[in-house]
Amino acid sequence: MKFFIDTANLGQIREAQELGVLDGVTTNPSLMAKEGITGKNNILKHYVDICNIVEGDVSAEVISTDFDEMIKEGEALAELHDQIVVKIPMIKDGVKALKYFSDKGIRTNCTLVFSPGQALLAAKAGATYVSPFIGRLDDISTDGLNLIAEIRHIYDNYSFETQILAASVRHTMHVIDCAKLGADVMTGPLSSIEGLLRHPLTDSGLAKFLADYQKGN
Ligand code: E4P
Repeated sequence: MKFFIDTANLGQIREAQELGVLDGVTTNPSLMAKEGITGKNNILKHYVDICNIVEGDVSAEVISTDFDEMIKEGEALAELHDQIVVKIPMIKDGVKALKYFSDKGIRTNCTLVFSPGQALLAAKAGATYVSPFIGRLDDISTDGLNLIAEIRHIYDNYSFETQILAASVRHTMHVIDCAKLGADVMTGPLSSIEGLLRHPLTDSGLAKFLADYQKGN
């Protein structure tokens, strides 16, 4: 399972990279705005800064909703760095753009996916990644994890190569459940990754080992 971090915060990206388990980064316009990164040139520079920190894929989202503009924007994003994956929204022109980029060998991440039908379309169009937003489904009292299970089932039926990128992961249990369900990738905050390492028995066990060592020295 690949671990992506879902942030535009360079400090957190560095921290996750230093942990040694990071496979990539996802961003979106809201995450950029949260870090105060605004204006086209600043945003493009920020993508390159992120690519220079991590070794894996970095999703960069188009803001156009029209096919021709998406293509122009996506091609410019892909030119920025070979780690860039062009993030395309699940809309009609987005499906066309996924197919266009797939035919050109440009990697894509189909974002804002909330149903198995949308995920099936994204795979048919040749998306590299599909991003079902599990946390946002949970927010509206719908089972986000069930969507991961449904997409896994459909993709396995036809051996689609599109990778299931469980997005809108909010906490550590989401990560574990997505791993059980066979998501290829998860993207979440640093806290969702760091939560995996915590257990009170690890802390008390280590404290005892260290105390016992001190007794003998
Ligand atoms: C995915 O690529 C999105 O950036 C993200 O996971 C959205 O998460 P949120 O629902 O916590 O905003």
